[in-house]
Parts: sequence; structure tokens; C-alpha cells
Amino acid sequence: MTTDFPKGFVWGASTSAYQIEGATGADGRGPSIWDTFVRVPGAIYHGENADIACDHYYRLEADLDLISQLGLKAYRFSIAWPRLQPDGRSINPAGLDFYDRLVDGLLARNVMPIATLYHWDLPQALQDQGGWSSRSTIDCFADYTSVVVRRLGDRIGRWITINEPWVAAFVGHLEGRHAPGIRDDAKAVTVAHHLLLAHARGLERIRDAAPRAKAGISLNLSDVLPASRAAADIAAAARVDMFENRLFLSPLFRGAYPDDAYEYWAGVTDFDFVLDGDLAAISQPMDFLGVNFYEQHRVAADPDHLGSASNIVRGARKLQPAPPITAGDVAIRPDALYSLLTRVHKEWTNLPLWITESGIALHDYVGPDGRCHDPERIDYYDRHFRAAARAMEDGVPLHGYILWSLMDNFEWAAGYWPRFGLVYVDYATQMRLPKSSAEWFRKVIAANAIATRDLLTDGQVDPTVVDQASVDSSRKPMRAV
Ligand code: FCB
Repeated sequence: MTTDFPKGFVWGASTSAYQIEGATGADGRGPSIWDTFVRVPGAIYHGENADIACDHYYRLEADLDLISQLGLKAYRFSIAWPRLQPDGRSINPAGLDFYDRLVDGLLARNVMPIATLYHWDLPQALQDQGGWSSRSTIDCFADYTSVVVRRLGDRIGRWITINEPWVAAFVGHLEGRHAPGIRDDAKAVTVAHHLLLAHARGLERIRDAAPRAKAGISLNLSDVLPASRAAADIAAAARVDMFENRLFLSPLFRGAYPDDAYEYWAGVTDFDFVLDGDLAAISQPMDFLGVNFYEQHRVAADPDHLGSASNIVRGARKLQPAPPITAGDVAIRPDALYSLLTRVHKEWTNLPLWITESGIALHDYVGPDGRCHDPERIDYYDRHFRAAARAMEDGVPLHGYILWSLMDNFEWAAGYWPRFGLVYVDYATQMRLPKSSAEWFRKVIAANAIATRDLLTDGQVDPTVVDQASVDSSRKPMRAV
């Protein structure tokens, strides 16, 4: 069955600066917290780093042509703060020139630029002064935003202030798996608040410098379900939902932190980092909400669980996901995208929604025919696009769907093994090879529709659909409750 999308629906792909650019010492760029973190022994899988990554800084023109060949309507990229302000404060004109060329190159090819101001690469100099746990970093971010928007605001109509504050705060400051590699509960919550405040201050600067531009934030939101109907599991799931979703949605859309956030962190912090006026600033109106969707969690109560790396909510344990899963062990649940979008719209906001990231990690390779066949990625997107279409039919104002990612790239602590791209990258030679999903996506964009499924799976037989209900119910919660 063909599923049509509304006229004007925006299809695109996303990247971030640190994951693709390389050239970390070029043209006056300063070090970021990630340049420091990748050098910590054991921090990154196989000890890899992003000094070269996809070498995008030096291959800009060819990559712009690639974007154009794929037929993308929009390209979401991030601006590297340490390129523009090597020490987080003074301006490096050469850094701005690169993004000037990038934006002009996109516009010349009729591609809408969507710029993210902060995708985790804080200048190391600011980390040395306390990083996001210090309010002075928020002022620096506001000034950096003004510099960028004054220069590029005449050509960029859509801005994202902060990418995934949850990950930056908790994976970076509680789990310590991401830069800056800190493990401190109280600091992590403070950082979460400061990132939201940076979003607010950034928004104000965007309004000043480019009053007609649209601006929002991108949150990684998850669908969270209890492992059973037991009250303890339901409470544990609510705690995970607070931690990953409501801790951000509630201040942004209701101007208040959820009550259960105060309860959860009682004894750790009394939220004295929230000053008068902060929540009013954070809840000022945006123009859209960006949703990065990857996960559904099933959560069981586990009173003995104190919170540990990668499973960090105290008293709650995320179950190992049942198949189908990605190569990164993430549950594949298109229905969860539907539930999440409808929930955000019904419970939280009438704002236009954009999916600003959505993707699957696979072990892609170039086969004997010299091509990279990724029918699983096609199938993944096919199912998720249909789920998004269903949410739109049910009234969700979804305006765009931006895939993660344009090309394979440096996947943070996981290094280079997870391949998320529409385009395969051979890191030894920097060869780019569009995967079969890229060709499929090009057709989807051209038709603004997804055609019948059997045309879509790269000529392969439609895979047997795993019956979700039977899989899930066959899995017992990890503890009896
Ligand atoms: C998101 C990040 C993005 C990428 C994808 C796979 O959490 O925003 O940079 O790593 O996950």
C-alpha cells in the first residue's frame, strides 16, 4: 500500500560536526572536551578518535554534491563551537568561513540548512572553568550563538539550540561514558538545568539576530513501558520516564520540574541551582520541538539496583530488549514512535514536531558486487515512516523527518563500528558509497510517498514479521515482583 505524505513535508539527513569533520587542529580550531576525552585510555572502543573522522572539513564540496545526489530537501548539521571560538570566547574568523561555505553550498543546491548550535563539543577551555556545571558557560553559549546567528542568520531559517541535553548531562556527567567523563549525580542534574537555560538564552539571541528564523531544541525521547502490570514495575517505569522524558518536557512546556524529580534527587540536591526567572526563561515559546527517536524501554522494579553505568536510574532496571533489535542492541519498535509522537502532542505541546534524528546501527559492508546492500535499514525506515504517517493521520503536526545519518561516522564512545549512514564510508580511503537505502530514500523523497513494501526491500523477500506481542510476553521481568 502506498502511504503519501503531505505536500511540503521535509525529508532530510543529519550529521554533527565532531562526528564527521576531522581537521581538529585546522585553521585555528581549539580543542573540545571530546578531543580530550578520546585520549583517555579505555574511553573509546578500540581506542579510536575523531582526528580525521570522515574528513568532511576537507571534502566539503564533494559531500555537498552527495547531499544533492541523494535528493535531500534538508540537511541538519552542527556548528563546532571550538572552530568559531577556540577558547570559548574569542572569535576565529576562519571557523566561520567554513560554515559560510557549507550554507551557501546547500542553498545553491536547493537544500534547506538546519543548524544545531551545540552537539556536545564544548571548548575544552570552558570545561577547564567548570564546563556546563558553571553558569558562566551559559553566558558564553549565548555570546557564541549571537556570533553565529549574526553571520549565518540571513541564510539559515531553522535553528536547533541544544542537541539531546539528556545525553550531554547524564551520559557525560553521571555515567561518565561521554565527555567530559564525570560521574557525579548532583553535577549531572545541575548540568541538565544549565543546558536548558543555555537553550533559553540561545533562543533569545536567535530572536534578536534573526527575528524571522524558527528555533527549537532536539530532545532524545523514549517510549517507556512497565515490564508488567505490577505496581512496582509501573512506578519504576514512571521513574525512567521522568528521568529521560519529563525532566526536559516539563520545564520546557510547563515551566516547572516534575514533582517526582524533586523526590528522586532528594538527598542528592535540593535544586538550589534553579534561580528566580530560570523556569520562565526555559518555558518561553519555541517554534518547533525536535524529537530524536531511537528507543523503547521496558522497565522492571529492582529495589537493590542503585543505579550504575548505562542503567542509571536507581531502583529501576531496563530489560534487555527482545528481538527485533539493531546491531547496537536497541529494540526496533515502530509502534513506539507512533505512541511517543501522539503522547508528546496530546500531553505536552501543540507545536510543530520534527523528527530530527532516527536511525539504525548495522554492521554494513561492501559486498562482492562492490555495493553496500542494507535491506534492514530500508525495512526499518519503511516501518518508521508508516508509523509517523499514522501519527499524522491522527492529528500530530509532524513537519519533517530527518534521518540519522547522512553517512557513517564516529559514533562517540562506540568508535567507528556502528554504521548509521545512508552512505557507506571506507575510513581508510574516505571513499563514499551510497547504500541501497540511499537509493530507496531518494525515491521516497521524489514521490513524497512510500510505495508497496515488496518493492522496498532491495529485491529481497519481505522478512518474516516477528509478532511483537508474543515476543514481549514471553520475556519475564528480571526479578519477580
Ligand atoms: C544520538 C546523537 C547522535 C548519534 C546518534 C546515533 O544520540 O545525537 O550524535 O550519535 O545518537
